[in-house]
Amino acid sequence: MVVLTGAGISADSGVPTFRGADGLWRRHRAEELATPAAFARDPRLVWEWYGWRRALVAGCDPNAAHLALARWQAAWPEVHIITQNVDGLHLAAHRIVSAPAAGAGGGGPPSEEPSLYELHGSLFRTRCTGCGQRRESREVVDASSLASLPRCAACGSLLRPDVVWFGESLESEVVERSFELAEGAAACLVIGTSAVVQPAASIAAVAARAGAALVDVNIEATGLSQAADLFLRGRAAEIVPRLLGEPGEREPPGRG
Ligand code: OAD
Ligand code: ZN
Repeated sequence: MVVLTGAGISADSGVPTFRGADGLWRRHRAEELATPAAFARDPRLVWEWYGWRRALVAGCDPNAAHLALARWQAAWPEVHIITQNVDGLHLAAHRIVSAPAAGAGGGGPPSEEPSLYELHGSLFRTRCTGCGQRRESREVVDASSLASLPRCAACGSLLRPDVVWFGESLESEVVERSFELAEGAAACLVIGTSAVVQPAASIAAVAARAGAALVDVNIEATGLSQAADLFLRGRAAEIVPRLLGEPGEREPPGRG
């Protein structure tokens, strides 16, 4: 089963979407903030914006939809999550679900990394503009001046957020693996995406064409909902836990 998620799954956690009524791209011009040219022109401004988004997301918790998916993943390794989100909430849900229960003693099994593909990168990673080194990064960025921006410990170049900007290509391995998974999926569950950004949107189409059952969860119909076998209209945090149930209650569908 392939799960494709977009900003809508995190809306119930308080993370703004991009194209909704209060969406980020309604209030900010993408070309001034999320392009390589914008960063070359004014890295301070770009970091100020990403610093703001980091702080915002750092105050948000995974919701019932992230948690239900993480529980499914913990039960079935054949559940793969492909996300367009850079908020890290799928990983946060995985950590919550796989953490040993408090006071249980002995601890649970070591938590394996989930099958999670972050197509558009992560707010909580930086990449060096000089040597390309990637690093986890959760600290508050001081974007008050050019001199205070984070720099690479190895080569001294400016660090940038490790997210995919407009005009940039996605990590080819991540994209290839995502399409491979889509080709082999028995079911494709799409949650909270307007499905207008490529190549993410085609992942669901490829899965459907290859025979996967297509289920779409969204508060409003999108181009994809029309093509879906099942369109569940409503909020992700409410619909997804009801759809999946607890592990053991329901199983991921098999092909045929
Ligand atoms: P959008 O903002 O384009 O779409 C969010 C979708 O979520 C819409 O279809 C909403 O109807 C739906 N939605 C909102 N709240 C919801 C809720 N509580 N439950 C279920 N659905 C809900 O966000 P994405 O489709 O993720 O890329 O946008 C794709 C990409 O465009 C982003 O990854 C970002 C942006 O430019 C980059 O920054 C590279
Ligand atoms: Zn470097």
